[in-house]
Formats: sequence, structure tokens, C-alpha cells
Amino acid sequence: MFEQVSDKLRKSEKIVFVTGAGISQESGIPTFRGKDGLWRKYDAMQLATIDAFYSNPKLVWEWYEERRRNILSAKPNPGHVAISELQKHKEVHVLTQNIDGLHQRAGSKSVYELHGSIITIKCTACSFKDKIESSFSEIPPTCKCGSILRPDVVWFGEALPQDVWQGAIQQASTCDTMIVVGTSLAVSPANLLPVYAKQNGATMIEVNPEQTMMSETMDLSLRVSSAKALPEIIDIVTK
Ligand code: APR
Repeated sequence: MFEQVSDKLRKSEKIVFVTGAGISQESGIPTFRGKDGLWRKYDAMQLATIDAFYSNPKLVWEWYEERRRNILSAKPNPGHVAISELQKHKEVHVLTQNIDGLHQRAGSKSVYELHGSIITIKCTACSFKDKIESSFSEIPPTCKCGSILRPDVVWFGEALPQDVWQGAIQQASTCDTMIVVGTSLAVSPANLLPVYAKQNGATMIEVNPEQTMMSETMDLSLRVSSAKALPEIIDIVTK
């Protein structure tokens, strides 16, 4: 599959991945805009905005608790594992839009969670923030300070964590290979990261069963699932 870029992959010193929901699809976690995507069944504006949360925290929390249960029982798939394996041979950084923590559970060390984490819970008022993997007895859960807790995720209309975003730009702008996996590139500013890499002259590779708005600008765009394609990269760089 990667024949036309195998030399560049072997010579590459710094490989940066930009990943989206598609890389977790084969772990049983639905995507957002695919045929069975979450945004086909639910209204994102009713569930994934700060206004939606404050107008109906119980509804938003019920949806996040359902997703937390699914995500916490999911396992990394061969796509996540291949990226983790690759860091034994190359400098690898993962800039992910996913909030499921599967890259870290697969063993990836340098992971930038652009849209936060569904496992981390924070208070809407005080500085409380912690990883909580158990489910909550009451919905919406409240903090010791009495205020409502929320998932530490970035909702539509909210800014990305600035330290994470600046770090992601730095990595995207200094890599010699970027591999864009399982993302429709529909959401900004994450969809700018491949532009920074291309501007820096990186070899651009995409892995997605469907065409995206940047497929034409890629050096190689594979219409293949990530669990199938990514393990092949290990074979190439370890030859
Ligand atoms: N392997 C690789 N790609 C896949 C697979 C797979 N097995 N299955 C689906 N895909 C692709 C789809 O073709 C689609 O292009 O993954 C992409 C998923 O796109 P989206 O559902 O839009 O997810 P994503 O790009 O991560 O969305 C970005 O939007 O709703 C917000 O915050 C949310 O982080 C999310 C952001």
C-alpha cells in the first residue's frame, strides 16, 4: 500500500499523526459524521455546546455517561497499537481530536488531546480536575464545592487548551512526515494542522476509507481502514 512513499517513510526522522474518530471506529466507538455517526442520530448543538450543558446538564450528562461506558470498555485496535510500536523506531507525536484515551492505552507517549478527554472530569467552578473511570451515582454529578462537574472536553464554541494547541502547531510545523488518519477534517482549528505540515514540506499521507477535503493535496491517500493500513508502516520502517 505504501510503496510510493516507503523510501520517505524509512528516511523520515519525525512522524506526526493527526487522528480522528475513524481510528477508534474499529474499537467499536462510533464516528460523528460517518454513515452511523453520532451526529446523524443526535443534534450536536443539543449535546456538545456549553449552552446545551447549562440549559440541560442532565441530558448532556446522560449522553456523556453512555459514551464513557462504551469508551472505557473499548480496547485499542491494531491502528492505535501500530502508532505506539512506531515510536520504538522513530520520533512520533500524536495530535488527536479523540477524547477516548485509546492512543495512551495503546502505549503512545506523546499524545496531544486537542479536544480534551472524556475520562477527565473537572468542576465548573473550582479548580478540581481528576481522571474518573467509575460511573456516577447521581446525574449531573456535583463537586465537593457544590457546583456541577463536567467532562474535560472541548465543546463547540469553546477554545482548545492553548498549551496543547500551541504544542500541536509546533509538532505539525516541524515534522518531515504527517499521517492523517480517520478524520473528516471538518472541524477547525484541528483541520489546519495538515496545512502547517504541508507548508513545512512534509510528506503527506492520509488513511481514510472515504475521500476528504484534503485528499487531493496528499502525497498518498489510502482508501483503507486504519487498523488494516497502519501496521504495514511498521514493516516498512523496520525493513
Ligand atoms: N479507519 C480510518 N478512517 C475511518 C474508519 C476506519 N476504520 N471509519 C471511518 N473513518 C473515517 C470516516 O471516513 C471519516 O472521514 O473517519 C472519519 C471520521 O470523521 P468524523 O466522524 O467527522 O470525526 P472527526 O473528524 O474526528 O471529527 C472531528 O468533530 O464532532 C466533533 O469533537 C468532535 O473531535 C470531533 C471532531
